[in-house]
Amino acid sequence: MRHISYTLQPMNPQEVIISQDLERDLSAAIQRVRPDRLFVLTDTTTREVCWPVVASFQCLAAAEVITIGATDEAKTLETLASVWTALGEGGATRHSMLINLGGGMVTDLGGFAASTFKRGIAYINVPTTLLAMVDASVGGKTGINFRGLKNEIGVFNAAGTVLLDTQFLRTLDSKNLRSGYAEMIKHGLISSDEHLAELLCFDLDYVDYAALLPLVGTSVNIKERIVREDPHEHGIRKALNLGHTAGHAFESLAMAEGRTVLHGYAVAWGLVCELYLSATRCGFPPERLHQVRQFVRQTYGTFDFDCHAYDRLYDLMTHDKKNTAGHINFTLLAAVGDIRINQNATREDIFEMLDYYREG
Ligand code: GLY
Repeated sequence: MRHISYTLQPMNPQEVIISQDLERDLSAAIQRVRPDRLFVLTDTTTREVCWPVVASFQCLAAAEVITIGATDEAKTLETLASVWTALGEGGATRHSMLINLGGGMVTDLGGFAASTFKRGIAYINVPTTLLAMVDASVGGKTGINFRGLKNEIGVFNAAGTVLLDTQFLRTLDSKNLRSGYAEMIKHGLISSDEHLAELLCFDLDYVDYAALLPLVGTSVNIKERIVREDPHEHGIRKALNLGHTAGHAFESLAMAEGRTVLHGYAVAWGLVCELYLSATRCGFPPERLHQVRQFVRQTYGTFDFDCHAYDRLYDLMTHDKKNTAGHINFTLLAAVGDIRINQNATREDIFEMLDYYREG
């Protein structure tokens, strides 16, 4: 990775463990903090599918379970307030701990609830989706959606421990697996041709979980390494935003239109858009763009919109929190692993990018 300058900054340290024994590792992580009360945040899906996996753990015997809605539409101020209320009514103090058991919505919202309750209590993430394992649960971004904008309100505050247990992936449906896989493709694009090539070869129709495990490990390492260098996203962490400026606009448009779109699908479509900008602005190789576009089309289909949506999508991109005043800020690539942060694009560039996405 080249052409980047950044300053090292501390964030609360985060331990990421690929766990072979969840009970042992969770118990050890709780013991390190010795909380006075323990709460487990689940959503309606993980309450049913994942809580039974851990419910008999001795270390969770006294835990109180809090359950919230399962989709991104539940990532609201009202849901957040309901978690604060449950913590308060359950007698949580500043010395209590929250364990987030779920996908990115649970780890983001739960992380924000823990970071703000009584000015911050300890929390652990146990991600149960691929998306949360390789991205959301690692690196300390917490938050909620607000006024139709994704993750508009939140803080940087890392979970003390993140425990990845890939047994949860076996309960994941194909769409959610693909959604997380898009963030892995992003990690491939910002790291190396070799890692990208192995990701583009992987068969998502007939998943070999044993072969997926090392790919997940590599992906988490890429993210961890970047977050360690730039926890508050002043420089190199912006690499992780590849595909997300256009992707968040697609996601927000879909949300406003009542269409259900999983985050990773929007990111995959956003990657195609932003690799097009990378090719036209930074010399990203057209054959790689074509290869990724083919993979995205086959794996994620396409996001349908017509030219009447361009202004709305442009407007959504101008609200992206990664922007500086007056500029839409993209992360682009000059080649796989050759990252160019803080790239501005004009309205014309963006309309051309949307034309390419629809017709190219
Ligand atoms: N999801 C991008 C990041 O954590 O920075």
